[in-house]
Amino acid sequence: FNYPLPANEPVLNYAPGSPEKETLKKTLAELKKKEIDIPMYIGGKAVKTGNRVAIHPPHEIAFTLGHYHAGDEKHIKQAIDAALKAKEEWANISWENRAAIFLKAADLIATKYRSYMNGTTMLGQSKNAYQAEIDSACEIIDFLRFNVHYLSEIYRQQPISSPGIHNRLEYRPLEGFVLAVTPFNFTAIGGNLPTSAAMCGNVVVWKCAETQIYSAQMFMRILKEAGLPDGVINLVFVPGATLGEICFNHPEFAGVHFTGSTGVFNSMWKTIGENMGKYKSYPRIVGETGGKDFVVAHKSANPDAVATALARGAFEFQGQKCSAASRAYIPSNIANEVKNKLVAQVKSMKMGTVEDFTNFINAVIDQRSYEKIKKYIDNAKKDKKAKILVGGNCDRKKGYFIEPTVIETTDPKYVTMCEEIFGPVLTIYTYDADQYEKTLALVDATSPYALTGSIFAQDKSAIDLATNKLRNAAGNFYVNDKPTGAVVGQQPFGGARASGTNDKAGSQLNLYRWLSARTIKETF
Ligand code: ALA
Repeated sequence: FNYPLPANEPVLNYAPGSPEKETLKKTLAELKKKEIDIPMYIGGKAVKTGNRVAIHPPHEIAFTLGHYHAGDEKHIKQAIDAALKAKEEWANISWENRAAIFLKAADLIATKYRSYMNGTTMLGQSKNAYQAEIDSACEIIDFLRFNVHYLSEIYRQQPISSPGIHNRLEYRPLEGFVLAVTPFNFTAIGGNLPTSAAMCGNVVVWKCAETQIYSAQMFMRILKEAGLPDGVINLVFVPGATLGEICFNHPEFAGVHFTGSTGVFNSMWKTIGENMGKYKSYPRIVGETGGKDFVVAHKSANPDAVATALARGAFEFQGQKCSAASRAYIPSNIANEVKNKLVAQVKSMKMGTVEDFTNFINAVIDQRSYEKIKKYIDNAKKDKKAKILVGGNCDRKKGYFIEPTVIETTDPKYVTMCEEIFGPVLTIYTYDADQYEKTLALVDATSPYALTGSIFAQDKSAIDLATNKLRNAAGNFYVNDKPTGAVVGQQPFGGARASGTNDKAGSQLNLYRWLSARTIKETF
């Protein structure tokens, strides 16, 4: 069955007066009108525990969007049992029937539920309309459609046969269940992690971040409407530690598809290692974790392009992208020009709620994040090695608001040049314009993470040098562009070192991890 390469879902621009903007405004009002009561989805059933937890928009914490029903140990076990029960039928239905469900889900988002995916992402995660559109509409749709295409290509790859001998590869799913754990920052990651494994015939227990529940439940309902059989994906709202304890001790644990912090991924890996011997097979451990993403400019770089890439790369979605630009190395010959242009752009960014579409900056996700980011800024204010160029104010009276903040440092190893902050904070270091090669070596040496990075230069040999010297410092490397905004089918996404297993979300490389092939040789 041939599924041709799809086109990327067109991004709507929500210009004033556009029909998509009017629809989205109506949906936002509708969502805010009635509090929602969100169950877990286990074995196709809506499970309500009575342990209700309130959900508030991060930019309007006095408002309640609804409640979710928190689960415990018992619900994790039920989810595993429901997944294993669904397993045989799901693994054995035809690939065309499996694919049809995910393609239908993509179409439902594109045509019927776009404003609901975007609306729940905007309100639940404090993401502006454009950032929601590229995430919870376009990227999810692309993940679903491209993965169907890529998987159909994989299924067609077969070994050679000879007269009297027929060889073939049977692309089976893994034996057991897959655990998907997803973060708040991209609704599309919640869309991709459970479905890419499920598409391959696996059954899944899906735990999303508490701060993603409002949009995740919307996606789960769409999957159900698209015809996903009961138990194939089970969405639970449970504490992470309990989840790990139960899943990683289970003999049917087949793998984990994770996006989140490096610390959590490390501890998962360790627990799985300690439990080896309990499992039927070696589990697949696939993770995309942290980043400390760089922008390096060469003395030949265009200052306007560098300033714009920094403003957008560092501050879209309040810097809460694992790919966000967070450390910049600017050569002395253009440093003042870049800084002035950057500061002017940052000053023009409006901050506030998502319902006012002119706000570029919204709130950070929760109080814990707010306090952590604020601490870095407060420390920088007191440190002789650092200076706040713009921003630096924080206010959590109405929501978790942190101004987009640019710190300048004289120390390339200053704490905000090295540690992942996951917020709207960019640190700039000015280097001697004649020390480009030395600076590239410094960037590599101070990159325990290796997710994304950018090089800006007009000089082709400077681009080649950076491409070579920074080979292992970023899994996604951008030349004369910001380090964020990878598009499915165009820039497969992921990094190595402390940034994960580099299995490139939305590509064949990722899908292979959810397959366990059997070679069959038949002699006539
Ligand atoms: N795919 C997201 C980006 O590239 C993380 O920004």
